[in-house]
Amino acid sequence: MNTNKTLITGGLGFIGSNYVDYILETKPQENLLVLDKMTYAADPNALKRWQENKQLNFIQGDICDADLLQQIFKGNNIQGVVHFAAESHVDNSISRPQAFVETNIMGTFHLLEAARKTWLNERQTLKSDYKKARFHHISTDEVYGALGPTGAFSEETAYAPNSPYSASKAASDHLVRSYFHTYSLPVVTTNCSNNFGPYQHSEKLIPTIIRKAIQEEPIPIYGTGENIRDWLFVQDHCSAIQRVFEKGTLGEVYAVGGDSEKTNLDLCKAVLEILDKHKPRPNGTSYSELITHVTDRLGHDYRYAIDATKIKTTLGWSAQTSFEDALEITVFHYLNQGK
Ligand SMILES: NC(=O)c1ccc[n+]([C@@H]2O[C@H](COP(=O)([O-])OP(=O)(O)OC[C@H]3O[C@@H](n4cnc5c(N)ncnc54)[C@H](O)[C@@H]3O)[C@@H](O)[C@H]2O)c1
Repeated sequence: MNTNKTLITGGLGFIGSNYVDYILETKPQENLLVLDKMTYAADPNALKRWQENKQLNFIQGDICDADLLQQIFKGNNIQGVVHFAAESHVDNSISRPQAFVETNIMGTFHLLEAARKTWLNERQTLKSDYKKARFHHISTDEVYGALGPTGAFSEETAYAPNSPYSASKAASDHLVRSYFHTYSLPVVTTNCSNNFGPYQHSEKLIPTIIRKAIQEEPIPIYGTGENIRDWLFVQDHCSAIQRVFEKGTLGEVYAVGGDSEKTNLDLCKAVLEILDKHKPRPNGTSYSELITHVTDRLGHDYRYAIDATKIKTTLGWSAQTSFEDALEITVFHYLNQGK
């Protein structure tokens, strides 16, 4: 058989590419096969970072292509899957929901089927060559809906997705769960809060704030900016994924968060303070003068927060980077981009 490989879907996206960097740095013996459709959200520059690396192979392809997935599983001794590939931008899901249903639901279904057909025998037990196989589904806290001013989501929270994005992720979570209960497919799922860090697509909040500020353009904040998110540095998310992928109990779900709740307005001001300090405006005033409140997103969830007790106590994981340090690393990354 070929060398063991872990299939990373969506490995050219924001979290996927950070995860590949993390594995290449921390697990030199692990072989990765990155599968990515290269939608607008992919960062092709990641391939340049990895081009000399013998641990990694790349295939451009769609997780909705069942034949391609069968070929990949058959030809590459895929022993693990870390499934990041998704349509991920809530605003796009409101204007164009179909791609979210196709990739997030059907794509996840085809991946589960490829893993089931390759790893399991007719008695629904793992074939001898796949005894340690594992499918890790990456999901979001948005499947739980919105919170009021208090409380936090945990693994026990009932699903109540509010956007086409979160509904499609919720459907994929349920499919993953059903493949464990029906077929005993070895799965784990993580539901994580908002990530920030290097290599995020320019359409997302923090890159937008930085780009608009530097270009001296109005910085758009939805509504009053009072919506609250729990922010987690992407590298801490990567370490959580690795911990669950290696040590999580099969069939279980782990909520991952950064214990770092911020309103969108406070987050924006924190980014702009770093810019004021390290790249002052030509006119000497604060970038915060550029903040402009715009019409709120349809159905905008008020607050998300995560109670990450389970992953902390059962797997010993915790976020290692303070919000302040992580935000500085992030802002410096975008300032240095293109230099
Ligand atoms: N960004 C966050 O804050 C966050 C938080 C929690 C969970 N998540 C989840 O993490 C995962 C990754 O999120 P992200 O922010 O890195 O997303 P992203 O949009 O930055 O990247 C998604 C990647 O998937 C690829 N892709 C899209 N459709 C595909 C298809 N049909 N076949 C193959 N590849 C395809 C894209 O080309 C892109 O490279 C998603 O499942 C998302 O739901 C994200």
